[in-house]
Amino acid sequence: MKGNYEIWTKNLTKVYDKRSKQTRAVDCINLRVEPGVHGFLGPNGAGKTTTINMLMGAISITSGEAYVRGLKAGSIRARRMIGFLPQDPIFYGNMTAHEYLLYTARLFGLKKRDAINKTEELLEYFKLSEEKKKPISKFSGGMKQKVGLASTLIHDPKLLILDEPTTNLDPIGRKKIIEYVKKLAQDISIFVSSHILSEIEQMCENVTIINDGKIVLINTIQNIKNTYSSSSDLFIIDTNGNQMVLRELEQAEGVLRAWISEEDTKIHVVHNQGEKLQEIISNLIAREKIVLKSFYQPEASLQEVFINLMKNGDG
Ligand SMILES: Nc1ncnc2c1ncn2[C@@H]1O[C@H](COP(=O)(O)OP(=O)(O)O)[C@@H](O)[C@H]1O
Ligand SMILES: [Mg+2]
Repeated sequence: MKGNYEIWTKNLTKVYDKRSKQTRAVDCINLRVEPGVHGFLGPNGAGKTTTINMLMGAISITSGEAYVRGLKAGSIRARRMIGFLPQDPIFYGNMTAHEYLLYTARLFGLKKRDAINKTEELLEYFKLSEEKKKPISKFSGGMKQKVGLASTLIHDPKLLILDEPTTNLDPIGRKKIIEYVKKLAQDISIFVSSHILSEIEQMCENVTIINDGKIVLINTIQNIKNTYSSSSDLFIIDTNGNQMVLRELEQAEGVLRAWISEEDTKIHVVHNQGEKLQEIISNLIAREKIVLKSFYQPEASLQEVFINLMKNGDG
């Protein structure tokens, strides 16, 4: 059973016991992570890092069980399977990317020749070869994170565990890291945490949502969207005469609101009867000889689902 999963936990729990107070940071969670990219999503303080640290054996488990590819979490064999990128990786800033990767490789026990080859291969893969003489302290956040990602791959792990790999990066850095995660996912399973929905949505097919130490949902992104998104009254229309169509729509029957979005310059219409709206648009096209470029309902974003889930608490 456990062996079929990349990550399997049963009633995994962590209570931080400080003199003055107890924090139940992770509360009886049952993770079932299958091969592929799996998102671990939840707001700050939800318990993501605590869970991941237990999976890595970096902190003790209060109660419950955790297995990684059938091996007891925290055991040497389990750790060797995993490439781990902590939330705040620490680099020796005066090292170059080349030195850092070589050093990591040697820590993992690679022979000198293999360590050099692997380092070169990873510098190449992450397009860091040109910067390999520069100290990491001079790197941008995005580049540092690329070095971090590269270092997780040094010992050919079977599973990557990435704790908020995109936090503290600028938008370009974020995009780069997401691209690399997607590229890596073609060859290796990845468990990636984030508090940012749109990023999980881009990287993962499956997601576990955690809030307040408890799992609130496990499902595919697609199923979540299908099941939890309320059918919306929003329609998006694009024509070669949006200003004119907007003026017409503002007068039309059943239109609750209509505006031109600054973001995509398309017409956004709130209408509680889709068929009626289609009819209005068809008539307009025929009468005014307008070219209709698109007419659709936007897919509900996970953001809406998430907000609803958090409002309703468990279940
Ligand atoms: N070392 C610690 N000692 C006490 N409480 C902690 C410690 N680390 C985290 N916590 C608490 O545990 C909860 C979960 O934190 P964390 O796992 O870091 O969440 P996340 O990674 O989802 O933001 C929070 O309430 C946090 O304050
Ligand atoms: Mg965290």
